[in-house]
Amino acid sequence: MKDFLESTALITGASSGIGLEMARQLAPMAAHLILVARRRDRLEELRQELLGTNPELRVDCQCVDLADKHQVGELIAWLRDNQVKLDFLINNAGLGDHGPFEASDWERVERILQVNVVALTELCHRLIPLLRRHRPGAILNVSSVASFLPVPEMAVYAATKAYVSSFSEALRAELRGTGIAVTHLCPGPVDTEFGEVAQREGTAPEDFRPMPAMFKVSVERVARQALRGVARDRARVLPGFWINVAVLGVALSPMFLLRLFFPSSAERAQLPALQPRLAHE
Ligand SMILES: NC(=O)c1ccc[n+]([C@@H]2O[C@H](COP(=O)([O-])OP(=O)(O)OC[C@H]3O[C@@H](n4cnc5c(N)ncnc54)[C@H](OP(=O)(O)O)[C@@H]3O)[C@@H](O)[C@H]2O)c1
Repeated sequence: MKDFLESTALITGASSGIGLEMARQLAPMAAHLILVARRRDRLEELRQELLGTNPELRVDCQCVDLADKHQVGELIAWLRDNQVKLDFLINNAGLGDHGPFEASDWERVERILQVNVVALTELCHRLIPLLRRHRPGAILNVSSVASFLPVPEMAVYAATKAYVSSFSEALRAELRGTGIAVTHLCPGPVDTEFGEVAQREGTAPEDFRPMPAMFKVSVERVARQALRGVARDRARVLPGFWINVAVLGVALSPMFLLRLFFPSSAERAQLPALQPRLAHE
């Protein structure tokens, strides 16, 4: 996809953060945007904003809980029934959970697996035939810098993102020459609602030790670089100079060395996030 002129893009997680910003940046060029998330009011608000910048744009809001298989199926059926000429799929919706795995709420873990892994995979699987019909097309899967190494206290989240990166690379190779390009985006820390959503009940924001501020990249820049990466058919987009340096450092370091930087179990046991569940046992 050289540019997004007159394109039809489906964006999951468009009600906030990176997905919302990608919708804003696509709006002046695209012909049709399908905004997917659970919060209808947010999507409707964004729809009005986007129509203000491009009155020719068609915007459909699809209120879908991607953790619910049935609702994912309904979204796919809606696309087919309406003969949507999809040429750009952005699998951006995702969530994390900060705290020790042992103390995690299983239902929340399941939602993370469903949204970050299962829904993303199913949307690719079911929508590739649609993309094939309207080539050239593109898939952008949002992974994370957390995909590069295991992250204690965000173990499941990092593992889901390792899946997204691995899956996207393999899918890209499989679809080479078909007119469908696959790119994955690996942002470092970005100021969105992500941190708030990942925070467990009863814990304080200070319990979360984020990456140093120098790794932060604005949401506008992340979205811009991601879309540029898709336009240039890049396999992977890693926004931010220091994130690239850090990833290179990780790539060059053997695992036994990296393990030295993981918090010890004694340190982890001190974290308040573990306490609510232990108190019930
Ligand atoms: N922010 C960061 O530091 C960072 C770093 C690396 C990677 N990422 C990745 O970037 C992507 C976007 O995150 P963000 O930072 O923009 O976070 P965000 O502001 O929390 O946005 C997450 C989006 O996902 C949607 N979503 C969550 N659960 C959903 C569900 N069950 N069904 C449908 N939609 C759902 C949310 O919409 P509703 O709540 O309205 O459903 C929201 O639009 C995620 O995949 C995240 O893992 C973020």
